[in-house]
This record gives sequence, C-alpha cells and structure tokens, in this order.
Amino acid sequence: MTSTPDRRTIFLDEMGVGPVWTRRDGSHQDTAPETSVEKQPEAAVPSAAAPSRIASADMASPSGTAPSASEIAGMDWVQLKAAVADCVKCGLCKTRTKTVFGTGDEKAKWLFVGEGPGRNEDLQGEPFVGPAGKLLDNMLQAMGLKRGRNANIANIVKCRPIGADGRDRPPTPEEADACMPYLQRQIALIQPGVIVALGKTAALSLLGLDPDTSVGQLRGKVHRHGDLPLVVTYHPAYLLRKPADKAKTWGDLCLAMNTYAHDDNRQ
Ligand code: URA
Repeated sequence: MTSTPDRRTIFLDEMGVGPVWTRRDGSHQDTAPETSVEKQPEAAVPSAAAPSRIASADMASPSGTAPSASEIAGMDWVQLKAAVADCVKCGLCKTRTKTVFGTGDEKAKWLFVGEGPGRNEDLQGEPFVGPAGKLLDNMLQAMGLKRGRNANIANIVKCRPIGADGRDRPPTPEEADACMPYLQRQIALIQPGVIVALGKTAALSLLGLDPDTSVGQLRGKVHRHGDLPLVVTYHPAYLLRKPADKAKTWGDLCLAMNTYAHDDNRQ
C-alpha cells in the first residue's frame, strides 16, 4: 500500500531533492544523503562590510542628505523603513519604482539574504516574488519555515540594479556598500539565529571577501557575520538554471538547520 506523501516531502520533491530518508521511528533525516557538506572550522569573518568602503559610499551620496552609517545604526524599525523608502545614497534610486526593504517576522530566527530586487520585485516592493521566489518558498517549506512567519528575507541592495541592456544585473561593490548599513541595522534588530547567504553577491558582501571567491569555495562551512553563524548556498535563480545543484543546496540548508540547532551563542 502506498502512503500519502507529507507536505515536506512534496516540497523537497519540488526542490528536486528526493527521496527523503525516513527514520524507522518515522522522523525525517535532516542530512541530505548525497551531501558533500561537512562541518569545518568556522572561518574568521569580519563583523561588517569593510567600514572604509561604507564611508566612501556614504560620501558618494547624490544629495548629501542621506543618513550616515552611524545614524542608521541607531534607527528603530520605523525610522529604518522610512530612511530606505527615501534613500538616495547611490544611483539606483534614479531608476527604481519601489524600494524593497525585505519581508518577514521582525524577530525571525532565520534570515535569508539575496542579491537585490529584479523587475518583479521593483514593481511590487517585495523580495523574491518571481520564479526564483517560488523556489525560495519551496526551500523554506522543506525546512519547515514560511515567508513572513519564522523567516525574514532581505537583499544586499534595496533598489533594482538595471544593466545597460535593461536587464537585471548584480549590484556593483559601491552600490552594495552604500546599502550595507541598512542591512546591518536589519540584522542587529532581528538578531537571527542563522543567516543564509543566497549566492555570491550576498556571501561576498556579508563576509567582506574579494570578488574572486566562488560560492563553491564558501559552501560547506559555517562562517560568522559578527557573532552570528552564516551559511552560504546557491542563489535560487542559479538553481533554476542549474537544477542539478538543488541537492547540494539541500545539503547547505541541512548544515544551516544543524547549526541553528546546536549554536551555543544562540539565546
Ligand atoms: N533575486 C534576489 O536576489 N532578490 C530578490 O528579491 C529577487 C531576486
């Protein structure tokens, strides 16, 4: 007799991960069977994106009236959201439709950080609303999480970077630096148990690493962003182009879940 798959199995299936290993007691195994992920010593990681770069990005403010990084560091949620909505710290403000602050529980235990809004997000003011967002939602479901409930989703930049060809592009390091104080403040207010960096831009910006570092080099380790554990995985948009790497991503998410479960610094 075949049993009906539970919701988690369905979402893992949609992520392209399966079969789910089930213990004899009926519980799920949170380690992907194929995973190459091993816990390694934590990397030494700077607490914030290089402060000198943030300072220079501040000076590049088009209006000269944008709040400084230290002003942002003292903001509450209301002030922070208002500052982002009015932000003119970099040129992306000129072409945006809406800023995309981020979404989710303000005390979420999980923070997922992407690159920056694309066309759909720019129109709706909400992160990850396109096909990559659907995959991210499936990833969250497979972890037992849900957008807006126990997970918060943010981006490195809050305005859509548009290439000369009119298509989405990654933010430049200067754009990322200009926006970083906002994300730093979000992180400080949320105090998540684990940060998951989705893709190269998020990982490099949050870890302050040089652009030659690949996601492959960063996966499989627990990094630190300040005192918070940070796990790197592939960006959902990349996974849509390369579905074969979804299983590796599940391994990364298992690492994040194990880290969350065992992190001694978590309150
Ligand atoms: N890609 C991202 O990195 N962030 C979004 O919000 C949407 C797509």
